[in-house]
Amino acid sequence: MGKLDGKVAMITGAGRGHAEAIALRFAEEGAAVSLCDVIPVTTLEEKVGSKIRDAGGKVLYFQTDVSEEEQVNRMAKETIETLGTVDILANVVGIAGPTKDVWDMTLAEWRRTLAVNLDSHFLCCKAVLPEMIKKRYGKIINFSSGTGKQPLSHRAPYATSKMGVIGFTRTLAADVGRYNINVNAICPGGHEERSVELARGRAEYMNQPFDEEVLRERMRRSDPKAVLAGRWCADEGYHEKGSGSEEMAGLALFLASDDSASMTGQDINCDGRVMW
Ligand SMILES: NC(=O)c1ccc[n+]([C@@H]2O[C@H](COP(=O)([O-])OP(=O)(O)OC[C@H]3O[C@@H](n4cnc5c(N)ncnc54)[C@H](O)[C@@H]3O)[C@@H](O)[C@H]2O)c1
Repeated sequence: MGKLDGKVAMITGAGRGHAEAIALRFAEEGAAVSLCDVIPVTTLEEKVGSKIRDAGGKVLYFQTDVSEEEQVNRMAKETIETLGTVDILANVVGIAGPTKDVWDMTLAEWRRTLAVNLDSHFLCCKAVLPEMIKKRYGKIINFSSGTGKQPLSHRAPYATSKMGVIGFTRTLAADVGRYNINVNAICPGGHEERSVELARGRAEYMNQPFDEEVLRERMRRSDPKAVLAGRWCADEGYHEKGSGSEEMAGLALFLASDDSASMTGQDINCDGRVMW
């Protein structure tokens, strides 16, 4: 018996990364899943959906830009019509946005990052909440970041959007608690590949030299100056993986299941290091 037997989950950005792992894990645990991404549905089917269907799971696909209200509403409506309801919403989509200082950034770049990272959470929640309220049941999982809690230089739209996700999560949790709906946020850390990609972008923008090997080596070393425990934990053998998609899927499953029934409005770090 799976932890999500009989449940329906809508998951955004499922074409790769954390959302892909969450989709596979939720389906393994018995949920029917409605997946969306900006990539074509045929790719979504090939990459992710076929694995779920081959294992006997139910899956729906949408090519949806989650910053577009009409597209989001259509996805929610068709999901409810086809799969019967929505019990779980995982708002996973997020883009990195530009690596620039504010004075070099265009308003369009600022708005696009906020639209994809923050408006999407508002739009997807707004689209499924009437259904959740009607049946007095719902689990909403938002995606913030470690950067939702601290600045990240040259990345103001990303950091602002992720801080906004935490504010939205806490406020929505307060608004819908009386309907038995839990709203929580996951704050992943940067996994190694993403951190390298971002550091390269920053170096290019700052016109500074970039040595990938030196960076990778530094990331693997303990940093006693940081308010962090990760590398020490790893050195002690407690934690070796860091901030991977499997860890996100595990935490998302906990938040999607009734095991976390008494948790709401939380923003939970999941990166093997951060302790604030
Ligand atoms: N990976 C990390 O290191 C890291 C660190 C901190 C926070 N996060 C957050 O975790 C979440 C998942 O990260 P990830 O690394 O798995 O992402 P990713 O970049 O690997 O995947 C994002 C997916 O979203 C899709 N997408 C992009 N824009 C879209 C849109 N407008 N509408 C629909 N789909 C869209 C992409 O096509 C892609 O398939 C994001 O919110 C991200 O900000 C990730």
